[in-house]
Amino acid sequence: MSHITIQGGTRLEGTLAVQGAKNSVLPILAASILHPGRTVLRGCPHLSDVEASIRILRHLGCRADWEGEELVIDAGDLSRWDVPDHLMREMRSSVVFLGSILARMGWAELSHPGGCELGPRPIDLHLSVLRQLGADIREEGGCLRCTGQHLEGREITLSMPSVGATENAILAACGAQGETVLLNAAREPEIADLQEFLCGMGCRVKGAGSSTICVQGRQPTRDVCHTVMPDRIVAATYLAAAAAAGGEIELTRVHHSHLSTVTAALHTAGCQIYSGAGRIVLRSEGRLRSIGTVRTAPYPGFPTDAQAVVMAALLRSQGATVFVENIFENRYRHVDELCRMGADIRVADRVAVVTGVPALYGAQVRCTDLRGGAALLVAGLAARGETQIGDIFHIQRGYQDPVGDLRKLGAEIQIS
Ligand code: UD1
Repeated sequence: MSHITIQGGTRLEGTLAVQGAKNSVLPILAASILHPGRTVLRGCPHLSDVEASIRILRHLGCRADWEGEELVIDAGDLSRWDVPDHLMREMRSSVVFLGSILARMGWAELSHPGGCELGPRPIDLHLSVLRQLGADIREEGGCLRCTGQHLEGREITLSMPSVGATENAILAACGAQGETVLLNAAREPEIADLQEFLCGMGCRVKGAGSSTICVQGRQPTRDVCHTVMPDRIVAATYLAAAAAAGGEIELTRVHHSHLSTVTAALHTAGCQIYSGAGRIVLRSEGRLRSIGTVRTAPYPGFPTDAQAVVMAALLRSQGATVFVENIFENRYRHVDELCRMGADIRVADRVAVVTGVPALYGAQVRCTDLRGGAALLVAGLAARGETQIGDIFHIQRGYQDPVGDLRKLGAEIQIS
């Protein structure tokens, strides 16, 4: 089993281009089957979750191959409409294939994605929007059997702005007759990227990025070449790392407006931050100030995916910061690992109180989930001595080359 080993205490300096966004590319890969032709993706990150999606695409009958740095998909010969259990289990977000398989084939059969390390992950909203479009969905023995040969567009109000349910609704609505209007849709930038991709294919989708999205159902007509948007959570991770370790880094290939709540928090903590077109510069002395209360919320609020890395940046701050996790029930599993490094964090239900300590110490720790693993990287860089991080497959689900990236910034870090 691989480990990441960090000798902490080195300031980070340098420039880094941010990888393409995992949360954007996964729904785009699902969307690629809507058109019986070619999709070329640029800036597609090399991640285990992307490889899992490629296995699903191949199972469905698509060609999907890396050609240099481009991922090329040909969905001309799509022949199946099922995603078997072992492929569903590899990646929970494969549930987004439900909408696209249904739109293209009129049937879909998936095993239930089940819970995950963040707690229960219900899909009731996904199923509700598809049913409202006319799909018949039966849940039998852990399997979802969906029929939807005559989906019909209509007005649908989401009871909460779920990212995945919004994406599934858009994908299914592309295959429906007439217009679908989604109200209280999630506003995450990754949904706007999905819209751009779909419009490139000839679908008619507008409004993504706002809470009202309109989809005019029609068969897409064009091959498409799309560049995946930059990953705002990977960017947040490296900003948090420099904030914690001290130094000055520049991130390029980044949309600073997508990161405004994270940069505002790090600025309040004492970092100097400059942003311009496609870049963010962060300068930090390493010891930060506490920042009051951080509440996670749907976009444009503070992202739940950045909670763990910003928490890790504040472990040596002066004073106490309160985190309130409003999106997922079980998103503090990294806390015990951070405490092994000397952090002072108290958790009660959805609230975590971080009281800054003078120093963190290297330790043997394990990733509990993707962003919790990233938090261990951040803490390890700021700690005295050696940190050894195990179960790094969690990190590899979302970070293309964290060790290479951090080495470029001068960190003493290796994978073995
Ligand atoms: C997506 C992101 C994930 C991020 C999350 C919140 C991808 C691949 N993943 O996940 O990284 O942390 O958005 O920004 O893009 N819910 C229900 N019923 C449903 C669906 C969701 O109750 O049918 C609840 C969830 O349990 C959770 C909340 O809604 O409490 C938000 O979930 P959602 O926005 O759907 O997150 P994901 O799309 O799963």
